[in-house]
Parts: sequence; C-alpha cells; structure tokens
Amino acid sequence: MRLAILGLISTAVASSYFPVTGDYRPFGPSYNHGAYPQDFSVVGPQLQAVHDSQTAPTGLAVDAEHNLYLTYPRNMGQTPNNVIVATGFNDEQPWPNAAIQNCTDGQDLATCFVNVQNVVLDSVGQLWVVDSGFPYDYEPGTDALYGGSKLMSFDQSGNHLRTYVIPKQYLAHAMNANDVRVNNTLGTNGYAFITDESTNSSILSVNLDDGSVIRRLLNTSVVRADEKYVGSYDGNLIYCWNKTEIGYCTTGADGIALASGNFYWGVLASRRYFFIPQSAMIDPNLSDDDVLAAVQDPGQCASEQAGFTADDKGRVYILASEHNAIYYVDTQQSEVDMTVNGVPPGGSGPVPPDRYVVKTLVRNGMIQHADSAAILDGWLYLNTNQLQLSASRSLSVVQGVDR
Ligand SMILES: *[C@@H]1O[C@H](CO)[C@@H](O)[C@H](O)[C@H]1NC(C)=O
Ligand SMILES: *[C@@H]1O[C@H](CO)[C@@H](O)[C@H](O)[C@H]1NC(C)=O
Ligand SMILES: *[C@@H]1O[C@H](CO)[C@@H](O)[C@H](O)[C@H]1NC(C)=O
Ligand SMILES: *[C@@H]1O[C@H](CO)[C@@H](O)[C@H](O)[C@H]1NC(C)=O
Ligand SMILES: *[C@@H]1O[C@H](CO)[C@@H](O)[C@H](O)[C@H]1NC(C)=O
Ligand SMILES: *[C@@H]1O[C@H](CO)[C@@H](O)[C@H](O)[C@H]1NC(C)=O
Repeated sequence: MRLAILGLISTAVASSYFPVTGDYRPFGPSYNHGAYPQDFSVVGPQLQAVHDSQTAPTGLAVDAEHNLYLTYPRNMGQTPNNVIVATGFNDEQPWPNAAIQNCTDGQDLATCFVNVQNVVLDSVGQLWVVDSGFPYDYEPGTDALYGGSKLMSFDQSGNHLRTYVIPKQYLAHAMNANDVRVNNTLGTNGYAFITDESTNSSILSVNLDDGSVIRRLLNTSVVRADEKYVGSYDGNLIYCWNKTEIGYCTTGADGIALASGNFYWGVLASRRYFFIPQSAMIDPNLSDDDVLAAVQDPGQCASEQAGFTADDKGRVYILASEHNAIYYVDTQQSEVDMTVNGVPPGGSGPVPPDRYVVKTLVRNGMIQHADSAAILDGWLYLNTNQLQLSASRSLSVVQGVDR
C-alpha cells in the first residue's frame, strides 16, 4: 500500500500479523491490522453535538433540568461573557446575569467575574464557579488579584449563595485556581478542592463551613509538569511558543474527580495522574511530608489531560486530550470486569493502586481536546476546546506554517 503525504513524499506501509497460538485467521480483509481504512474506526458509541460554542470553553456543568453551562475564560484575552447557559444549539445567555460578567472600576472583585475557569454542579443542586483572579491583561510574573481569586456558589435559578475568597497568603507563587470539585458530605458543611495549575502548582482544600483554606503539595513532583514536556494533538506536536521562541508548556495540576473518598487529579503537561484520600487533603494536623507520603501513584494514563470526572459507581473518567478520547478507570472492585494480578472480577472495596487499569471509553475525531465533563442520567457531557489551535500552541498562528 502506498500513501501520498503532502504530495512530496510517498510512504510504503507493510503491516504484519502477530499470530496467537491456535488463532490463525484466513487470508482476507483485516488479516493485517492497519492495512485497511476501516482499521481506523472510532471506538465506543456515536457522539451527539448538543451545542456550538461561541468561543473555546474550558468549564462545563449540566444541571438537573439538563441546562448546559460553559465558561469562556480570559487566559488569552477578554471574552464578552465569562459564564453562559446554552439556550439553543447556537444560542447562549450570560449566566447568572450580564452585570456580573465584568468587574467595573472600583468594584469589589469578590462580587464579579474576573476570569472564571470552571462551573460545576454539586450533589445538592448548587452551581460553583472557580475564578482564577488573573485579569485578561495581567502582567506575567504577578500573583492573582486578591478577592478575584475565589469560589462562588449559586442556586439553579442563579441566585448567589456564598463566596469564599482565597486568602491572600495562598496567592503566592502565582497560584492559579483552575478546577474545583465539592464533596457536600465531608466534614460539617462540605469541602471544596481546587487545583492550582501554575508552574509551581499546588492543591487547595476549602472548608465550606468556616471558609478556612489549606494549601498542599506546593511545587512537588506530583503537581509539577514534566521537564520539557511536548504533547501531541491530531498528529501535530505541541510546544508552547512565545512568538518564534520555542517554549515548553508547564501547566501543573489541572483536572479533578472525587470518587471512593479519594481526590483524583492529573498534571496537565504530563501523562501522570494521582490520588489521595480526601481525609488527608483536609487534615490541618498532617505535615506537608505526611500529605506527600499519602499520595498514591496508579501508573501513567498515556495522555495529557485537562479534565476528569466521576460517576456514582466510583468510575473515574480521564479526558485524554492527546488521543481524541475519553479514558476511564474503575476504583471500586465491584465494577472491575477482568482478572488483574490474579484477582478475579467483582468483589467489594476500593481497588488498590497497583491494580488500576485505564481503558478507552470512546475515541472519535469529534473530540478535539476535551477539557471538562459531567455525567447526568447516564450521559457523559464533554466540551472540546481545541486548545491546539490557540495562538501559543498552533504553528499556523505562530509562524504561518501548517505543521
Ligand atoms: C464585558 O466587557 C467587554 C469588554 O469591555 C465587552 O465587550 C462585553 O460586552 C462585556 N460583557 C458584558 C456581558 O457586558
Ligand atoms: C514559582 O514560585 C517562585 C517563588 O515565588 C516564583 O519566583 C516563580 O515565578 C514561580 N514560578 C512561576 C513560573 O510563576
Ligand atoms: C520549585 O521546584 C523547582 C524544581 O524542583 C525549583 O527549581 C524551584 O526553585 C522551586 N520553586 C519554589 C518556589 O520553591
Ligand atoms: C517572550 O519573549 C520575550 C522576548 O524575548 C520576553 O521578553 C518575554 O518575557 C517572553 N514571555 C514569556 C511569557 O516567557
Ligand atoms: C465524600 O465524603 C464522604 C465522607 O467522608 C465520603 O464517604 C464519600 O465517599 C465522599 N464522596 C466521594 C465522591 O468521594
Ligand atoms: C488537630 O489537632 C488538635 C490538637 O491536638 C485537635 O484538637 C484537633 O481535633 C485536630 N484536628 C483534626 C482535624 O484532627
């Protein structure tokens, strides 16, 4: 078989078949995997497009009435709206209202959106927004604006409930709040967990009863990017360009899922993910060394990942942005459907980290850098923000070349 690539170079592919004892297939289509176009099929069910976003979304929530919320962050410039609710396939409205989308001169930054990164639903019908507090025109090297960096909760009608401002001391080292998940039944009145995707990176837990915050794992290997990380999307390698200067993306801890009493996170500019008991993340009496020692490493997940989510059966979903795919891993032994390390399927209790097996749920060209996901009524909703096309990552934008 010959493939013409770019009309310049031709490539010949010779595939070979690896026989499994007793499994010699006859000649015919599919004898050699990779020799036929149909070998590159999608994996999993068909996807359905439910909304065409006006700009690249990062955050996503779906409420009990199936309303779809998206965030349009201001990391690469001003966006007219920071949080919207979809009102049709092409239509959207600022949410919870237009006035909150921009802070006005002199306004208390805790009362308006500076740069919301995600919106998520908790288990009691409240919507939470996490604001990084970095204005779109911030000076690189500066910390987030005090008051701007915060969590806000709303009811489904958009009524504001409560604001948790990140205390000033935790804004040090350019703390960049990116994602949030809430466990409403942990402690007296629940806890929120926030990833700090800055280069130094860290993880924050917020006591939703008294608003106290703890910052953990600051600048440790389990939150920092791989040195000189390079990713790949749609077959194109991705550097973080500064105009014509080569750069390496250093995004730290990013996506979050809560499952089986654990806090799961991924380091974006890496193919690593980790988990830790939520009880360890919220305990102020543990030393930083104790917290680091409690981190579990279940092996790599083969992809850069901007988002995670979980269902009510302890299955953690990993948005495998490098592979146009959604991966998953079962964290409850009752859901495991194969023998791993001699342990048969089924049973009970949590899966220990040495038996985590990451699998593919769906792979499809429609998934263009999945960033956030939520599960409702047996459907997984995800947004695709096409980050690979953005100014610093796309060579066609940076230098006017295709690849
Ligand atoms: C927010 O500010 C931007 C820039 O001034 C403006 O274009 C946009 O319309 C404003 N958004 C709202 C909802 O008022
Ligand atoms: C990491 O923290 C150090 C110390 O505060 C700071 O100098 C540095 O700028 C931070 N790194 C980045 C890339 O923000
Ligand atoms: C963070 O870790 C890096 C690499 O280990 C080190 O070079 C840097 O100084 C550390 N930054 C801070 C703020 O501790
Ligand atoms: C990009 O390059 C310019 C010119 O070399 C430099 O001044 C600037 O600090 C760089 N920006 C970043 C974010 O590294
Ligand atoms: C939330 O916290 C409760 C109380 O510790 C725990 O039983 C539960 O498993 C946690 N939820 C998740 C999804 O991890
Ligand atoms: C932390 O230690 C103090 C003093 O021993 C104790 O009163 C408190 O209950 C502990 N807190 C937690 C969350 O274990």
